Amino acid sequence: MSTNFDVIVIGGGPGGYIAAIRAAQLGLSVACIDEWKNDKGGPAPGGTCTNVGCIPSKALLQSSEHFDHAAHGFAEHGIEVKGLKLNLAQMLGRKDTVVKQNNDGILYLFKKNKVTFFHGRGAFVKADADGYEISATGKNTETLKGKHIILATGSNPRALPQVPFDEELILSNTGALAIDAVPKKLGVIGAGVIGLEMGSVWRRLGAEVTILEALPAFLGAVDHQIAAEAQKLFAKQGLTVELGVKIGEIKAGKAVSVHYTDAAGKDHEAQFDRLIVSIGRVPNTIGLQPEAVGLALDERGFIAVDDHCRSNLPNVWAVGDVVRGPMLAHKAEEEGVAVAERIAGKHGHVNFNTIPWVIYTSPEIAWVGKNEQQLQAEGVAYNAGTFPFMANGRARALGDTSGMVKFLADARTDEILGVHIVGPMASELIAEAVVAMEFRASAEDIARICHAHPSLSEATKEAALAVDKRALNF
Ligand code: FAD
Ligand code: NAI
Repeated sequence: MSTNFDVIVIGGGPGGYIAAIRAAQLGLSVACIDEWKNDKGGPAPGGTCTNVGCIPSKALLQSSEHFDHAAHGFAEHGIEVKGLKLNLAQMLGRKDTVVKQNNDGILYLFKKNKVTFFHGRGAFVKADADGYEISATGKNTETLKGKHIILATGSNPRALPQVPFDEELILSNTGALAIDAVPKKLGVIGAGVIGLEMGSVWRRLGAEVTILEALPAFLGAVDHQIAAEAQKLFAKQGLTVELGVKIGEIKAGKAVSVHYTDAAGKDHEAQFDRLIVSIGRVPNTIGLQPEAVGLALDERGFIAVDDHCRSNLPNVWAVGDVVRGPMLAHKAEEEGVAVAERIAGKHGHVNFNTIPWVIYTSPEIAWVGKNEQQLQAEGVAYNAGTFPFMANGRARALGDTSGMVKFLADARTDEILGVHIVGPMASELIAEAVVAMEFRASAEDIARICHAHPSLSEATKEAALAVDKRALNF
């Protein structure tokens, strides 16, 4: 087996494995090194996303939503369920099967595209005139040579100072996806994406969930109107979110006690059966040996790259969570493709203005582009149009009429500047907005497109019409 490659990718998450496949499609010889192990010690490519992120969280969100519907939603449809019971072991087992299908799928894709896979840790050894020497250490150590190196080593959960994750009582996303009995009381620190998604899963399965958030505003990065609507809906579901708290001492014994001060300055001592800490993630360069070749990191530990994902070293690139920008799987993938194409002499491109965000709660929250508070801060003149799902026939038939679609368009040109949705299937609906913004469409363009009836996407059209105050069904 050759140990010389045009491209060596370190990290097999969405950034790395997609970069490897695209580079191979373009005729380059490619190796991908990934160290993630499954519970048998075997390879489990796909990174955080596949193993302890996007995929297992969405599997549990789906399962717990079915359970919640059966318990609370079916009766309205005339479906009576007696003796409803949770089989948590089966639910967690299904999630693990979905993860494994994805791991196997990636290994198959590597084979199909002739990407050489190494299971182990990749590290820089040295640089010389024709490239980089990389060690791949798994059961054995192999020394590989690459002309180009793509670093896609991802991120790790941030722990609170002096409160390490034990994954029994104090849980990162890894432990939060594998709790073996529904906790009576679940505490969550951080009302960000993971806090809301994982809080929703365990609330639906019967836990009493309290989320403690440091910032005074709920989902500060989300359009204020959409965030306020979501906050109202989550409160109705019984998800308690306390804003503006200051976390004090955390003690873990049989349960976890959390001392905190609330927004009014009052002290509290809360007891939880488990505590999820979801306060953001930090870039991962552990074991990469950047110092062996002089790879520059920025002051926050991210690999320093330019707009084209080039590091400070010739032919060393970095993509995904380990570099600046949103920590999203699809952002990592787009960067991976763009870098592979640049290496092959093409013109890869990532449009950071049109990266969609989705929070997979119920209802889902999704957005692309600028929100109202950003446009106001930038002094951009805009028109807003909103349309509630309550006035959408398909949403009424579904029995899920919560939320709205909101369009923001340039007041002068009508170009769409942002689209914000809280409501059913927002994750799917946002795709239309992304396409529209990529093609620099106006709100009028969307308003004039025929949308199938009855469909949730009609709410998108109606919100576009509402920009010009011409909504038809509201
Ligand atoms: P990663 O997926 O972290 O992959 C990095 C890989 O590199 C890992 O396999 C790691 O083991 C390996 N590695 C690291 N160092 C080395 C080394 N030296 N040698 C060999 N291998 C190494 N994003 C979304 O877009 N949608 C979602 O729904 C979503 N849900 C999420 C839910 C949770 C609970 C979490 C935690 C994250 C979620 N994310 C989601 C974020 C998403 O998982 C990340 O943005 C994405 O995984 C980043 O991809 P990556 O390739 O940069 O890194
Ligand atoms: P986050 O950045 O989304 O949220 C962290 C929250 O914790 C913030 O609201 C922050 O103010 C709060 N916080 C920070 N320190 C705190 C403290 N000491 N006390 C109380 N609150 C504190 O980070 P999260 O939820 O950990 O997720 C990490 C990243 O993973 C996300 O930003 C996202 O990029 C990615 N992700 C994406 C998902 C998706 O696309 N659906 C799902 C889950 C994760």
